Amino acid sequence: MSQGQFISHCTADALTRAAQDLQSGSLVAFPTETVYGLGADATNAAAVARIYEVKGRPADHPLIVHLADMQDIAEWASEIPDYAIDLARSFWPGPMTLILPRTELAQDFITGGQATVGLRVPDHTLALALLTAFKEIGGKGVAAPSANRFGHVSPTTAAAVREELGEYLAESDLVLDGGPSTVGVESTIIDCTAAAPRILRPGAITVEMIETVTGVRVVNREDEIRVSGSLEHHYAPSARVILDGTAEVGDGFIALQSVATPEGAIRLASPLNNEDFARQIYQSLRDADAQSIERVIVVQPEGEDIAIAIRDRLGRAARGR
Ligand code: TXA
Ligand code: MG
Repeated sequence: MSQGQFISHCTADALTRAAQDLQSGSLVAFPTETVYGLGADATNAAAVARIYEVKGRPADHPLIVHLADMQDIAEWASEIPDYAIDLARSFWPGPMTLILPRTELAQDFITGGQATVGLRVPDHTLALALLTAFKEIGGKGVAAPSANRFGHVSPTTAAAVREELGEYLAESDLVLDGGPSTVGVESTIIDCTAAAPRILRPGAITVEMIETVTGVRVVNREDEIRVSGSLEHHYAPSARVILDGTAEVGDGFIALQSVATPEGAIRLASPLNNEDFARQIYQSLRDADAQSIERVIVVQPEGEDIAIAIRDRLGRAARGR
């Protein structure tokens, strides 16, 4: 049974009320361009504790603080290298999270006790309107992990948020519907605590984009990229995900449109290009579960663009829950 209140027509009044709800300690799930987030006042320990409860997530996992404007990072970050300012100017609002040394505003219940904090200005009209309305009534920032149960696939629609969290939300919590997320995979996380940027989680902002705007070489550009400080390795559906395998009759099948469907397989997505692949991947894995498909064969996209992020998430999905 669904508890949270769903708002599909987000008027200015609805957003003002949602900001007030955040201020009074309620949770507000909201759309971003990457995936939907489950938001709480980032300075309210009790509200943030409810995020962990609703997600079923271990309490030492740090959360990303979402801000209305890049200027607001000065309140949360104590040292900001020049290359991080270049990144913020170039890619915010956008699908990028910067990890920076924290100020006292970023308490242990946000950072998981680490000396750093993750900050992001999302590129979504509704998210920015909510963050701005919250700021106008004195809010400092909105902590928001992806709005899924721990270890599950991130939601890219309000309906997916309802499926994931509906039964765990309280009557006073809100879910704002802003349509499907346009990027589809979580933000690129960049550690900005050393002399050069380091990618902790790949996303739509790539190594090449980072190096172009900063003129600084990314340290782990050839290495495997890993999210540090996180146990959330599995972004997995119930179905077993098999990468680049042979599909048999009754298997789900996900590949670029140019790849033909094997005989007897159930086509779940036919993205036109890698951006489209990112947009569709999580929903198509959800669709596999909705159809009780047991195995899904995915032909991984090639390339060094957002395909890196897609292969990263598919690798996690293939390792299972
Ligand atoms: O696209 C996104 O980033 C979405 C939308 C809602 O903004 N959010 C998101 O949050 O993916 P979450 O909590 O599902 O994933 C955030 C990741 C976690 O793996 C966490 O460990 C890492 O970011 N993280 C957060 N703060 C960190 C920090 N201070 N140091 C290292 N990793 C951090
Ligand atoms: Mg997540």
